[in-house]
Amino acid sequence: MKVVVTGGLGFIGSHTVVELQNQGFEVIAIDNLSNAEESVLDGIEKITGKKPIFENIDLREKVAVQHFFKKYNDIVGVIHFAASKAVGESVENPLLYYENNINALVYVLQELTALPQANFIFSSSCTVYGQAEKMPITEDASVQPALSPYGNTKQIGEEIITDTAKVTNLNSILLRYFNPIGAHPTAEIGELPIGVPQNLVPFITQTAMGLREKLSVFGDDYATPDGTCIRDYIHVVDLAKAHVIALQRLLSKQNEQKVETFNLGTGTGSSVLEVIHAFEKVSGQKLNYQIVARREGDITSAYANTDKANKVLGWKSQLTLEEALAAAWKWEQKIRS
Ligand code: WQD
Repeated sequence: MKVVVTGGLGFIGSHTVVELQNQGFEVIAIDNLSNAEESVLDGIEKITGKKPIFENIDLREKVAVQHFFKKYNDIVGVIHFAASKAVGESVENPLLYYENNINALVYVLQELTALPQANFIFSSSCTVYGQAEKMPITEDASVQPALSPYGNTKQIGEEIITDTAKVTNLNSILLRYFNPIGAHPTAEIGELPIGVPQNLVPFITQTAMGLREKLSVFGDDYATPDGTCIRDYIHVVDLAKAHVIALQRLLSKQNEQKVETFNLGTGTGSSVLEVIHAFEKVSGQKLNYQIVARREGDITSAYANTDKANKVLGWKSQLTLEEALAAAWKWEQKIRS
C-alpha cells in the first residue's frame, strides 16, 4: 500500500518513513529540502534496506501538487509533516508561515479528497493548548489563542481539516505532539537543525560537542520545583510509531469520528535542569550552562495526559528521556565526526 509522507526527509518525517517501511508500506516522501537534506534517503535505506520514492516538490506550488496526485492516484493515505516550525521565526515572518503551513495543507487536501479514499494524519502540536490550566493536559483542554503565528497555523490547520471532513470523504487523525527529541538508535538519521538551534536538546548536544560555548537556561524563577520550565519530551521513534498506528486505524476504519485527536507525549514532565542532568549522566560529561532571563512566550509547564492514546489508539511511549538523550548525543557525535 502506497503512503505519502510530506516533509518525509525532515526530523519526524524521516523517522516515520522508517517505521512505515518496517511495516511493509510503500512510501513516497515529498520534501522541498528547505529544512532537510537528500542524503537522509541513504540513512533510511541503511536502516530499512529500502529507499522511499522521493519527490522534490514544494507544496506551495498548487500545479505541482495537482500533478503529483495525478501521478500517484492509488495512494491509501497522507501523513502531513511539511511545515515551517520555528516559533520565533514565525513571529518575525508570519506570512512565510501562513503561506507554507496553510496554503500547502489546502492544496494537498483539495487533491486528496478527490481520490477514492482520503486518509490524513496531521502533525499538530501541544502548542494549541497554550498554558493549559490543568496538568496533565487532556485532548479536551481548551484551545487557547495562539501565542505565535506558528501555533496559529496548527490551530487553523485543525479547523480546516474538521470543516473539510464534514463535507468530503476525508477521515483524519490530528496528532498533538509534545516535545519531540532524540534520534534513531542506529544514528543513521536524526535532527539536522539549520543555524543556531532554537530547541533545548539540539542546543545541549551542540554545546556538549563544543559547537556552542554554553547553554543558556531561559529562567529559573518559574513556579516549578526547581524553577525551570517543565515539558514532556517524547522520543522521536515512539512518536513515529504512533503515526503508523494512527494511519492503520483509519485504513481499517476503526476511527469512531471522521476527525479524531490524540496527545502524543510520555505523560511525564521534565524540567530544563532535569534534562541537563540526565544528559550529563548519559554523556558522562558536564554541560556548560548559565541561567539567564526568561524567553518571551515560554509557558511554565506542559505535559500530556496519554490515557486516550493508550486506550483508544493502543499506543504508549516505550523509550525513556535518557534513551532519547543518548540517541541525540550519539547522532550529534556521528554527524560531527
Ligand atoms: C523547551 C524548554 C525553554 C532552548 C517548541 C514549540 C513546539 C515544538 C517544540 C515544533 C523551554 C528551554 C530552550 C534553550 C532553554 N515545535 N530552553 N534554552 O518551546 O517547549 O516547544 O518547540 O513542533 O510546538 O512550541 O521547546 O525546546 O524550544 O524549549 O532553556 O537554548 O527549554 O525555555 O522551557 P518548546 P524548546
